[in-house]
Amino acid sequence: MSHLLQLNDVSVIFEGKTDGVKHTIPAMVDVNLSFDSGEIVALVGESGCGKTTLGKVLTGLQKPTKGELFYKGKNVWSMNKAEFAEYRSSVQLVQQDSYAALNPAKTIFQSLSAPILQNKIVKGKKAAHEKVCELLRTVELTPPEQFLEKYPHQLSGGQRQRVLMARAISLNPKLIVADEPVSMVDVSLRLSILNLMAKLNKEMGIAFVYITHDLATARYIAKNGRLAVMYLGKIVELGSVRNVLAAPRHPYLQALLTAVPVPDPKVAKGKRELPLKSLEMPSISNPPSGCAFNPRCPYADETCVLVQPKLDFHGDDLVACHHAERIPEWKLVTLAK
Ligand SMILES: Nc1ncnc2c1ncn2[C@@H]1O[C@H](COP(=O)(O)OP(=O)(O)OP(=O)(O)O)[C@@H](O)[C@H]1O
Ligand SMILES: [Mg+2]
Repeated sequence: MSHLLQLNDVSVIFEGKTDGVKHTIPAMVDVNLSFDSGEIVALVGESGCGKTTLGKVLTGLQKPTKGELFYKGKNVWSMNKAEFAEYRSSVQLVQQDSYAALNPAKTIFQSLSAPILQNKIVKGKKAAHEKVCELLRTVELTPPEQFLEKYPHQLSGGQRQRVLMARAISLNPKLIVADEPVSMVDVSLRLSILNLMAKLNKEMGIAFVYITHDLATARYIAKNGRLAVMYLGKIVELGSVRNVLAAPRHPYLQALLTAVPVPDPKVAKGKRELPLKSLEMPSISNPPSGCAFNPRCPYADETCVLVQPKLDFHGDDLVACHHAERIPEWKLVTLAK
């Protein structure tokens, strides 16, 4: 059986210019990832590591420079028009900036009714009205009549994000890529938006790819799902959230985890820190040779400087590190005594 969505050796290389000099930006390099119906995958990485580019590739907004994207076993970029249209409505993107994503001159009813009428989900204004009300109720904007005639600027960030979620589910998608959907939402409302995604996943069977730089929300939303860790355009660790967070192998993920605050003071006291050699992320347009993490990694040796590690199985999870087998957790330095 084919996966719902599959990336085969996908790279995206942008052209950049600094001081008039052309250079390449490898935003995604040889990424292999697949997504199945109904699952939640969190994609985590620092700013600029290629998360949004990956999200755009998955939703057909960015054509890979190299490699293939398959939807239900069919190569997306050699689909006919009807197949491509079905794929595009089945894989939806929810963007970070809900204000930019909605037309400021259109009411919520206009923004939500246009795609369902265009895609013949419903026929006529009355049916569109009923469907839009149902969508608003599903995303917990109630009573829906209160929102129909509002403009985007009259809603809060959290409410706009719910409208985007309503628009994304209106075409009965199989998968939603949510790119930092809560980073611009008030902190107090973030959990409720994450809970809404979990509800849509559970009740409607929609698969989610949750893109974030924040491990804590990734762990929250994908507790029964998978985690993919990205570093400078590459996936460096991939596995079930349970496994990967209980026994992180890639030193980059270990470092990210030590940066997550621990609420329990007893646990915090014994918390360990990975002493990175440098806190600075190298430029993605001039990545280090060998393993891209080597200039920051406390375990790096000559091999790491010379040879790019492959993403290989270690236990049930995939890790791209020459020393994945040798790095036991106890090597981390204990902080407070
Ligand atoms: N259209 C483009 N043209 C040129 N360079 C681009 C383009 N889109 C992205 N980039 C570059 O590709 C790299 C990866 O960008 P991307 O937006 O995918 O990262 P990100 O992980 O989503 O970052 P953030 O966490 O800040 O959203 C960056 O260096 C970015 O400047
Ligand atoms: Mg981004």
